[in-house]
This record gives sequence, structure tokens and C-alpha cells, in this order.
Amino acid sequence: MIGSHLCDYLLARGHEVICLDNLVTGRLANLTASLAHPRFCFVQHDVILELPPFPRLDHVYHLASPASPPGYTRVPIETLRVNGEGTRRLLELTHRHGARMLYSSTSQTYGDPLEHPQSEEYRGNVSCTGPRSMYDEAKRYGEALTVAYVRHHGVDARVVRIFNTYGPRSDPEDGRLVVNLITQALRRRPMTVYGNGTQTRSLCYVTDLVDGLVRAMDAPGTKGEVINLGSPEEHTVLEFAQMLREMTGSDSELLFTEPAVGDDPHVRCPEIRKARALLGWEPQIGVREGFLRTIDYFRAELGVTPAPAVPHPASDGNRPGEPDPGPSTPRSSAPAPAGRRPAPGRPSPP
Ligand SMILES: NC(=O)c1ccc[n+]([C@@H]2O[C@H](COP(=O)([O-])OP(=O)(O)OC[C@H]3O[C@@H](n4cnc5c(N)ncnc54)[C@H](O)[C@@H]3O)[C@@H](O)[C@H]2O)c1
Repeated sequence: MIGSHLCDYLLARGHEVICLDNLVTGRLANLTASLAHPRFCFVQHDVILELPPFPRLDHVYHLASPASPPGYTRVPIETLRVNGEGTRRLLELTHRHGARMLYSSTSQTYGDPLEHPQSEEYRGNVSCTGPRSMYDEAKRYGEALTVAYVRHHGVDARVVRIFNTYGPRSDPEDGRLVVNLITQALRRRPMTVYGNGTQTRSLCYVTDLVDGLVRAMDAPGTKGEVINLGSPEEHTVLEFAQMLREMTGSDSELLFTEPAVGDDPHVRCPEIRKARALLGWEPQIGVREGFLRTIDYFRAELGVTPAPAVPHPASDGNRPGEPDPGPSTPRSSAPAPAGRRPAPGRPSPP
């Protein structure tokens, strides 16, 4: 998903782009426009395996990895290997070509954080054997490998910790928050909210993220750096669900369930001071604008025609005993920006 937008961006800036993907979670249809471009080449290949020969490379963006909880739960060993062996292969390739590399890590390296918002200095609260460990620990190892190649071989590489990013071209069955909520709303099925929905997320629109990735690759002074990229606008999951239900005009009920995969982080919000200072980067697309574009994409993808806005029933199908969202989170209305709120049951930021 992110990689296909990166291809568009790089082609539009005049680059030649070779995209290598084994399609384990990706979809070739996302590259339809790029495939017609004379400066684009697609190679179906697994980066865990020996790499094919390449012409001289300037930049290597390593985005290959299952990224959604259902994705990495389905292929846990491959997830560990692509961030371990795959990262080593791409670092060696970068070294041989005297190129630059960007390793795409994740906010999941902070685990279920005890510090909020999460700055690059925070070392995280991650389980090395928990249900998400194949992803979280794989990315932590990928980071360690990347900085080892910088220090030991002088490779010009950097690490970007990506926070939740969404947008068109996500797989409708991907299972991540925004995709789930939009596709469920458009299909008029119950919208799944894990727990009581008070956990927070900060959602970045994909073109903003791609702009940040390219800046992190190109900007001077980024060699060996670890940089957070994500939106600092934080909301509860319940607020996102209500906003998306209203924006899709859906009459879906909200269904409160246990998380699909354990160790769901209670809070997630990036500290992006470093990205601002080093890259001059700031997300430009507000959450409503990003949601509108993504809803339009999924309407076309699912063949759903726009529905007239509907009044929502008083009951949202809360589980018995589940707390009512209460007056501070009115049903069916857009949430006010949450700012940096302390996490429920978590230490407040200093
Ligand atoms: N989207 C997010 O919110 C988010 C957040 C944090 C980090 N990231 C990271 O960004 C990158 C891209 O994520 P995305 O959201 O676009 O997910 P995605 O699943 O759409 O993209 C990942 C791509 O990697 C490919 N891939 C996986 N294993 C491979 C292998 N062994 N060889 C070759 N290709 C392989 C997949 O087929 C897929 O096309 C991932 O590394 C992910 O961990 C994404």
C-alpha cells in the first residue's frame, strides 16, 4: 500500500523505479498506473532469498514486511525473516552499490508504551514472546541491524518509525483499524471496536507519510538517525468509529469486541519534533480530508453507492456492562481534536 504511493511519487519526480515484492500481502493491482510507466519495472521476488542483479542503485527503500496483525499472524516466520535476513540482504546491496537505504520500522517498536507521546528516545515496552512479537521484535532487530551496518560498514542508512498510516489501495480484507471500520460501514455491517474504544490512535494519511519517507532519504544529516513519522493528532478509536460512521452515512451499529490479536497498545501518538527539525516535515492532510479520500476509494473498490445520511439509533450495541461512551463522546458526531491526552490507566506525560 505505502510502497505503491511511493512509486507514484518517485516516478512523478523523474526517478527510475524498480519495485520488488513477493505479493505475500501486497496487491499487483495497486501498481496499475506505475506498470504502464516507461521508467518503472516490477520484479516479483522474495527479499529473504538471494537478490537478482540490479543496475546501479542510488536509493533503497525497504518497506517489505507483512504489516497488519492478521497478516503477520498468518506468516510469523516470514515476518521475522523479511525484517532479519531480508534487511541484511538489502543492507549488503546498499553497501555494494554505495547507495542510501531507508528501513521502514514501526511505532510497534514502542509496544504498549509507558511514555506518551512516544519520542525516539523512548525504549519501549515490548513483549519478546507475546502475540505480536513476530512483528515488533522483527522490526527491533531490523533497526539494530541497520544501525550496525551504519556503524560498522559506514552504510548510509536511516530508520523511520512509521505510525498508523492509512489511505487508498489498502486491501479491503487487511484487518487494520481504518480499513475495517470503513468497509464495515459501507457494507452496513456492525463496525468492530476493540475493547471499550478508549484506546487512542494517531492516523497519518499515506501521501503525507510518503513525503516524509522521501525527505528522510534525501535530507542531509539523516544517516544513522531514527525518526518518527506519523500524525500527532490523537483520537480514541471510538471517536474514529463515530466519525467514519457519520461520514459514510452508514447505519451500522458499533460492536464492542475483544481485540483480534492480544497486546493491543492502549495509546499511540508520535512525538515528531525530530522530523520537523531535521526534515521540515509536518502532515498536511487532516483526518476528515484523509477519511473522505479513503472512503471514496473503498466505495469504488466495493462498488457501493453513497448513502444518504441516517439518524443513528440510541443504542450502539454495547456489550452488557460495557460503559456508555458518555456525553463527552457524542454519538454520530465528529470528535474534537483530542490533543495529547493522558492514557486511561497510564501515567500522564510529564
Ligand atoms: N501502514 C502502516 O500503518 C504501517 C505502520 C508501521 C510500519 N509500516 C511498515 O511499512 C511497510 C509497508 O506497509 P504497508 O502498510 O504498505 O503494508 P503492505 O502489506 O501493503 O506492504 C508490505 C509489502 O511488503 C511485501 N512483502 C512482504 N514480505 C516480503 C518479502 N519477503 N519479499 C518481498 N516483498 C515482501 C508485501 O507483499 C507487501 O506488498 C511495512 O514494512 C510495514 O511494517 C506500516
